[in-house]
Amino acid sequence: TTKIILDTDPGIDDAMAILFAEASPEIELVGLTTVYGNADIDISTRNALYLKQRFGFKCDVAQGASKPLKRQPVGASIAVHGENGFGDVKIKAPTISADPRPAHQYIIETVKASPGEITLVAVGPLTNLALALEQAPEITKLVKEVVIMGGAFGTHEHTGNVTPFAEANVYDDPHAADTVFTADWPVTVIGLDVTHEAFFSTDYIDTLRDTCGDVGEFVWDISRFYLDFYKSRMGVNGCFVHDSSAIAYVIDPSLFEVRGGPIRVVCDGPAEGMTLQKHNDTKHKADEWADWPAQNVAVKVNDQALLDLYLDTITSYSS
Ligand code: BDR
Ligand code: CA
Repeated sequence: TTKIILDTDPGIDDAMAILFAEASPEIELVGLTTVYGNADIDISTRNALYLKQRFGFKCDVAQGASKPLKRQPVGASIAVHGENGFGDVKIKAPTISADPRPAHQYIIETVKASPGEITLVAVGPLTNLALALEQAPEITKLVKEVVIMGGAFGTHEHTGNVTPFAEANVYDDPHAADTVFTADWPVTVIGLDVTHEAFFSTDYIDTLRDTCGDVGEFVWDISRFYLDFYKSRMGVNGCFVHDSSAIAYVIDPSLFEVRGGPIRVVCDGPAEGMTLQKHNDTKHKADEWADWPAQNVAVKVNDQALLDLYLDTITSYSS
């Protein structure tokens, strides 16, 4: 099994990914670290604690950053995830509390306690990971792997989702993302290039509700608001598989095809938050790009196998 710390801004698709990680026998969910993003930090932490208590997770929860490193905060995605981050489904206030340490400190200490064993999976803005790197750069040698949901590399017709060029998690804190991508640790980026290629249809989510007990019902309930957003914005019956795709990569990397090369982020101007990779087919000889480590960008996904994996995993968890 792979031990993970999941850095997250729950968030509807974050909740789906958290439940996927908890349910998977291939993953040991050691900690949930929270970050602002889909909702503000108090709400995102409250939602992580709610999931832990309601579904009986053993993992720690540590609260992280409330704002980006440098840029002006973009603000919560209320139109996508609702005022309460869970599509405005009423939830009881959790009666458990978070670890006293801030998320970046929790990450540093947990990684140091199990050298070579922890995979960091981040499915929100990358501020906590950047703060951990800033405070303890030596963790680059101690983390097993870093898996990020974020970015848009334009390998298909898809480009950004918050601007024509930027994906939300990277756009929320481009400086943090650039720090994480250029650090000397093994990063795999699961961006819109692949998350827009996998689709949870409304029928699929109905099946989750009908066959996956309490977990399936919860996912169905919180996804009503999210699906309405997709319907009104894009005219589709379903939603893309963003955060759960990063978990799927941890469980079975063979579902994805990746491309190697250094990654940078545009940190200001009209293309703010745009991600770029100088992959091996890039014709231009650009020696300065040799300064940054080659990372992996996912360019293809076996979407049917991913959907089967999600359903099978949640089904066996709930039975
Ligand atoms: C990402 O942005 C958030 O709204 C989702 O939770 C996901 O992590 C997709 O761009
Ligand atoms: Ca997210």
